[in-house]
Amino acid sequence: MIIEGRIVNRDAIHDAQIAIDDGYITAIRKQGLNGERKIEARECLIFPGFIDLHAHLREDSSHKWDYKEDFKSGTAAALHGGITTVIDMPNTPLPGISTDRLIKKKELARKEGLIDILFYGGVSESNINTIAKMQKEVVAYKIYLAETTGGLYIRDDVLPKAIAAVEATAKPLVIHCEDQRVIEKMHESLKVNLMDHSELRPEEAELSAVKNVLAAASSDTKIKIKIDIAHVSTYRTLDLIGNNFHCEVTPHHLFFTKKDVQANAFLKVNPPLRSEENRLRLLDAFKSGKIDFLVTDHAPHTKAEKAGGLSDTPAGVPNLDTYGNFVAWLIVHCGVSPMLIARACAYNPAMFLGLQDRGSIEVGKRANLSILDLNKRVKIRSERLYTKCKWSPFEGYEFPGAMRHVIYNGSVVMEDDESPI
Ligand code: DOR
Ligand code: ZN
Repeated sequence: MIIEGRIVNRDAIHDAQIAIDDGYITAIRKQGLNGERKIEARECLIFPGFIDLHAHLREDSSHKWDYKEDFKSGTAAALHGGITTVIDMPNTPLPGISTDRLIKKKELARKEGLIDILFYGGVSESNINTIAKMQKEVVAYKIYLAETTGGLYIRDDVLPKAIAAVEATAKPLVIHCEDQRVIEKMHESLKVNLMDHSELRPEEAELSAVKNVLAAASSDTKIKIKIDIAHVSTYRTLDLIGNNFHCEVTPHHLFFTKKDVQANAFLKVNPPLRSEENRLRLLDAFKSGKIDFLVTDHAPHTKAEKAGGLSDTPAGVPNLDTYGNFVAWLIVHCGVSPMLIARACAYNPAMFLGLQDRGSIEVGKRANLSILDLNKRVKIRSERLYTKCKWSPFEGYEFPGAMRHVIYNGSVVMEDDESPI
């Protein structure tokens, strides 16, 4: 197969043809390549297959949360959004905190998943001494420092031990930074507005947790382990971490604010949405390359669950289907360079996880390609989504582009079926 168009890598953009054979990229030339099938994408941007470092696909061998999402529906939604590798979080009904459970998850993912699903191993207080045993099953580890969906979290006094245990495996670590103690204090305080989620889980909770991570990681003379601060919600976190850690941002923290949550409780997420000024500063930081990864934090809950009102509704929004649309918005409306997208959505996550076979468009890499059409305006409509929960925080919003083709291991697995508005 030959794909022809504008190739975007982290450091260059050029018009060329890509030859694909047996699931790999075998040649890239200005012209003259021939194949059995040709896809002309001259008006489009061809990115390395997007890699989502942070998603909750919900399935495990208990199947208790399959009603929210499962490996099949979740990976269909991922493909719709241009994602060809997804890393699944451990906070399911049977959390991924042991070898046995992870093997079962991997088996289900292999049977049902439409793309590569890789796994985080959860670090809990019960498994700190045994996490090395599951290192073969995981690409990285995940620590929660506060209670959120699934209830998998550790106290900050065991954090240094937990970080040391992950460091011994030489795998990277992602940390959900909200300080449970600060959140509990806010819940006890009489001054807090219980209907304001961002007051109940304030920026201070994130900053305090990040400080604890900094202290724990640097207490060990030199930080050797790669740490990624999950879904940064406040730009003040970026100032704190400097170059010590990697960090991620989500589409919802770059697009919505706490005012939007007041109007629509479906937008309740952990960590919460913040002020407009903060959103703009996060966007600026992303544009200048200070944020390493654009992750979905796809966290599907049903419409019925989300309709429960602000205090009862579970936190989390689905984001996989619309990832490509959101990337189009970043490029067209926010002036984000396509090369930066190739970095934050493919190259950086691949390097963070040590996946040498993907993350850029080069001869010898896996033929995972995400082709984005910026000439097609679309309106997000729930009936067009592949996520099982069938709703989107972006429902009704118009976006200046959509995925046109997605190639996974050399096969066309998604062809544009969306009519423009
Ligand atoms: O909003 C969130 N939802 N934040 C999390 O940390 C967990 C996630 C979920 O699993 O629903
Ligand atoms: Zn998450």
